[in-house]
Amino acid sequence: MREAITTFDDPRTLTEAGARYWCECAAQAITARGAFHVALSGGSTPRALYERLAEHDFAEQIDWQSVHVYFGDERAVAPDHADSNFRMATQALLSHVPIPAHQVYRMPADEQPIAEAAAAYESVLREHLPVSDRGMPQFDLVLLGLGPDGHTASLFPGTPALHERERLVAAVYVAKLNSWRLTLTLPIIDAARQVLVLVVGDNKAAIIDELFTHDAERSYPVQLIEPLGDMHWFIDAAAARHLEHR
Ligand code: 6PG
Repeated sequence: MREAITTFDDPRTLTEAGARYWCECAAQAITARGAFHVALSGGSTPRALYERLAEHDFAEQIDWQSVHVYFGDERAVAPDHADSNFRMATQALLSHVPIPAHQVYRMPADEQPIAEAAAAYESVLREHLPVSDRGMPQFDLVLLGLGPDGHTASLFPGTPALHERERLVAAVYVAKLNSWRLTLTLPIIDAARQVLVLVVGDNKAAIIDELFTHDAERSYPVQLIEPLGDMHWFIDAAAARHLEHR
């Protein structure tokens, strides 16, 4: 695993770099294996990246016929609900590019019982994702955001999903949000070829400080990720203001 931190002067340059990175990952995967399998994150930071990718200068670089889009997590709401990550990604990117509809795999967190919805999505991952040399379904890229509490995807502190080492998708009740979610679990995130964490804003400076300048034992959910591939952090100046090497 190679972990790299890149800081950016502002959200715009971070988003621009994120779009370039996404395009590079897509081109490499399609050239090498004929397809690009990517898991999208929810959140406002990833949304800015999707909106940038939808703009002509980036969108035209990508062979959308070879792109397969999945979700890293989803709220237990209908796909047209304002809180839906699927709706957000569709509005920001997927409805603006010629990706075949059958290559967008919505996480059915609104379906009940939610534990069966988790199992159903795991079946989708096992059916469509290539398999790593260790026998794990493998994303080319997993996009992640970071919450101020160190959560990523819907892996929240203190939840059982953090300890799931067999299933690839877990149903998780987030008490502080009083809501159910589906989330990819650590084993499938760890199996990814590339993981990109996007962090923007003053409200993330404290958690970034905790993660990178203190000897905190690896306790925050995002610290539990140990990808076999590369893990890149794109952090803007506001979130990185406590990092010494800025
Ligand atoms: C979600 C996301 C979540 C998000 C972070 C960061 O469904 O909410 O998956 O993990 O990425 O909370 O969100 P912001 O970028 O909006 O701060």
